[in-house]
Amino acid sequence: MNHESSLKARIGRACARKLVLYDCDLALTYSTNRLAAEELVAQLKHDHETNVTSERYFRVSIHQGDLSKPEMCVKLYEEVRKAHGRPVDILVSNAGYGKRITDIWDISVEEFEYTLSINLTASFVLTKCVVDEMKTQHWGRIIYVSSIAAYGAGLNGCRESSSHHEPFFIFLPDQIMPPRKAV
Ligand SMILES: NC(=O)c1ccc[n+]([C@@H]2O[C@H](COP(=O)([O-])OP(=O)(O)OC[C@H]3O[C@@H](n4cnc5c(N)ncnc54)[C@H](OP(=O)(O)O)[C@@H]3O)[C@@H](O)[C@H]2O)c1
Repeated sequence: MNHESSLKARIGRACARKLVLYDCDLALTYSTNRLAAEELVAQLKHDHETNVTSERYFRVSIHQGDLSKPEMCVKLYEEVRKAHGRPVDILVSNAGYGKRITDIWDISVEEFEYTLSINLTASFVLTKCVVDEMKTQHWGRIIYVSSIAAYGAGLNGCRESSSHHEPFFIFLPDQIMPPRKAV
């Protein structure tokens, strides 16, 4: 089963449409735009019906939550876990927030913290949610959707640049990344 954090938007949508071709069940999350999530579900069902020959029942669920709040990340994960009744095999941490504010003197502390909470902390919390079961089953994949902004402040300012580093991936244990088991 694959849990996609915010998969109805542009990059997330493309990831979901690719994963469905591998017959992955999907859990899509959104914050405000339920209609887009529902449209994506319809598209994914069509993609699955048209391109996947397996007789297996394909499950796709949608879940609403504000990922700027760590407790909501945990709640979303628990909801997904319950809806699918099995561990998350692939986490795509894609939800992102960014406003083009270039200069540090124009960026409030609140704006800085809010950006980090979605682009960085949510990835950290979601990783903690899924990683234990990945270790237990000796398989898992975590994909962080980052940004070119991580290379430097540039137009998007220090707030977005700092928030897209997602450095903790290097601490993921070998147990969930055995190369021979990779798809
Ligand atoms: N597009 C680009 O050129 C580009 C470039 C570099 C990096 N990125 C990164 O790639 C990722 C996806 O980008 P995109 O352009 O496909 O994004 P997008 O179309 O703007 O969609 C952003 C997604 O994040 C969700 N989201 C925003 N705030 C949220 C919150 N508080 N809680 C939960 N979900 C929230 C939105 O949900 P709702 O719509 O439901 O609110 C939406 O699904 C982001 O991390 C972005 O920073 C994008």
